[in-house]
Amino acid sequence: MRVAVVGIRGMGKNHLSAAKKCALVREVAGCDISEDVRASVGAEFQIPTFGSVDAVLRDFKPQVLVVATPPNRHGEVVRAAFERGVAVLTEKPIAESLKESQDLVELGERKGVPFQCGFQLRYCGMMLKVKNLIDAGELGTLGRVSLTQYSGSHTKLGYMTRERTGGIFYEKLCHQVDIFRYLLGEPERVMASAAPTVLKHYGIDDNVLAVFAFPGGKQGVITFDTRRAAQVDAVEKPGRDFEGREAGHFYELTFTGDRGTAVYDAWTSCVDVMRFNHREDLKTEWVRRIDLRKEGCESAYDLSGQDGDFFRHVAEGKAPRFPASDALKSMQWVERAEESLRRNGAWVEV
Ligand SMILES: NC(=O)c1ccc[n+]([C@@H]2O[C@H](COP(=O)([O-])OP(=O)(O)OC[C@H]3O[C@@H](n4cnc5c(N)ncnc54)[C@H](O)[C@@H]3O)[C@@H](O)[C@H]2O)c1
Repeated sequence: MRVAVVGIRGMGKNHLSAAKKCALVREVAGCDISEDVRASVGAEFQIPTFGSVDAVLRDFKPQVLVVATPPNRHGEVVRAAFERGVAVLTEKPIAESLKESQDLVELGERKGVPFQCGFQLRYCGMMLKVKNLIDAGELGTLGRVSLTQYSGSHTKLGYMTRERTGGIFYEKLCHQVDIFRYLLGEPERVMASAAPTVLKHYGIDDNVLAVFAFPGGKQGVITFDTRRAAQVDAVEKPGRDFEGREAGHFYELTFTGDRGTAVYDAWTSCVDVMRFNHREDLKTEWVRRIDLRKEGCESAYDLSGQDGDFFRHVAEGKAPRFPASDALKSMQWVERAEESLRRNGAWVEV
């Protein structure tokens, strides 16, 4: 199989690594409009590179195109691939607007081309462990999934603009919206509210509280906050990474059922499992710690699981495991959350 990755500066490099690791993939190519990026990444990965999507489709003839351009540049690349019947795995979000996302999914279906969106949290080691806990009944019936994220320091200037990304739910929080749907089913309504932006370079809301309500009172909750990042930025240490503990970043996901709760901390890479006890003392018992690194689990930025799964489905002529038509439902909730933000926290329903 021949795989080409378009947009190879940031996330694209993780896709190149995943393609190189996959036994099904014989040849890998990169594509980027930036000459500097082509030169450095081409040399790093020892791959041929191309300066436009048309050139890579015409001259390299990939069976799969992985799209890792900025969100507002997904559409042009995805359309070019569909025109040639080439399967597409695109980075999240599908596109920077719901309309564009819908158009792309419809076009893929009309052309009969495999199309998946990279919500890789569904595949990562943490999720596989947590899903096992849930399926084994350890947490009881899952009723609540929540994210607390104190975002890291300065990202690249211009990276977070609305024009480029579509908004905070499109750019960042779409992952969690997708996880809520994956674990809790279809939401009924959402409310999202934003405090004033504190990071000046953030063109979009950077302090968000959101509640997704599901049938039976289940909830998906997001607290996303850049105040800590603003403190770290104020120290002004150039070259500081924007993710990771060193950048003031904190990321915790909690999965709570009626029997217990599992808490994932991104920087220790551990999941703590606790059990609610209904005996008379009612004490919550700590059950165990799952150390994801020690157990050799894939991190959220190792895309081998997701990309390999997509390549395998394409090679076998099967529809993707998580088709873009399903990701589109997450995108609809992303747009409803953005609508709630625009309406100052009003509940938005189906
Ligand atoms: N899944 C995740 O966890 C995750 C994390 C970060 C970013 N992303 C997504 O990955 C995508 C890329 O983000 P990034 O941070 O790597 O961006 P980036 O700006 O670092 O890299 C994008 C690259 O695309 C190139 N490019 C732009 N338009 C192009 C075109 N038409 N043809 C070829 N190359 C083009 C740019 O020159 C640049 O090198 C976005 O969709 C983003 O949302 C996903």
